[in-house]
Amino acid sequence: PIDATPLKSLAPFPIGVAAQALHAADPAWTDLAATHFSQLTAEWEMKMEYIVQPDGGFRFDRGDALANFARSRGMRLFGHTLVWYANEPEAFARLDERRQSFEGALRNYVTAVVGRYRGLASGWDVINEPIKDDGSGPRDSLWSRRLGQVGHFKVAFEAARAADPDAVLFTNDYHLESKPAKLASYQRLIDEVLSAGVPLTGIGCQTHLIADLPAGALTRTLKVLAGFGLPIHLSEMDVSLIHGGLFASRRDSELAQARLYGEAMEAFAALPERQQFAFTVWGLRDRDSWLTRQNAQDAPLLFDDRGQPKAAFAAVVDALRR
Ligand code: G3I
Repeated sequence: PIDATPLKSLAPFPIGVAAQALHAADPAWTDLAATHFSQLTAEWEMKMEYIVQPDGGFRFDRGDALANFARSRGMRLFGHTLVWYANEPEAFARLDERRQSFEGALRNYVTAVVGRYRGLASGWDVINEPIKDDGSGPRDSLWSRRLGQVGHFKVAFEAARAADPDAVLFTNDYHLESKPAKLASYQRLIDEVLSAGVPLTGIGCQTHLIADLPAGALTRTLKVLAGFGLPIHLSEMDVSLIHGGLFASRRDSELAQARLYGEAMEAFAALPERQQFAFTVWGLRDRDSWLTRQNAQDAPLLFDDRGQPKAAFAAVVDALRR
């Protein structure tokens, strides 16, 4: 049997989990989550796609439900995410070209959301996934088109800083461990915005892996990102068994998955203490994963559908005990 020691009791840094509001009302979910995790990230209900209504109004019912659950169980909240190329609500897109009204509306949004959770949220993904998938450079988005690449960083980060002087303010991206060009572009953009005086104070590495990622790749990526000297959030880890396709058996892919979870925790725990912001997995049980919604055969997380710890969980415990 797998030693189900509470993860949060083994780690000197927060261990986070992604959640939806429906989970906060499900005792099977809440008891297991509160046992092992000390931080909570809203999987989607604190994004513009949920908060911003067609008429431009904001709705916080589900964000508040998650915040209240976190507060009730002594968990930190992590704010995800304020500005994202994948969320371009009509209420913003239709604002006229005049920069001021668009900039004012974005500033107002960031101020309202960050201000609402001030004191509970330990940090925010202020700008999510700023780099193109092919790694060739910064993405083009409604936000960058209207305010400029550095400009939209300045507006969003400065508004977040003003709304919560204590929150760690992140940018956050994925495939940094498998696409060297994307990591290089991410580093260049971070350098550029830091040089422009943007109050970026944390770096997110989402860590959505496939089980055939070569050993050592993620460790090297975390070392490169730690070079900025800022807090690192390993922010959305899961390890898909499906995309790999290179394994002789399900067992082999589950062992590869466990090895990667162990490597990730070992590499994160090896960071300087002041750079260990949090280690977050993107869901509690395999059935809760966005990946399993895409392919029911997948099993990317630490707990199985019945909430039992898997080999991946044991690998994380072993890494924390080293
Ligand atoms: O639950 C509702 C359902 O009631 C409704 O009928 C249905 C159709 O509107 O929507 C369902 O909500 C969906 C939700 O996932 C839960 O399944 C939302 O539409 C859908 O947009 C949402 O997708 C989320 C996605 O980001 C977009 O926000 C995923 O849960 C979430 O895992 C995914 O997370 C992203 C990170 O934010 C950034 N990094 C990549 C990661 C994976 O794509």
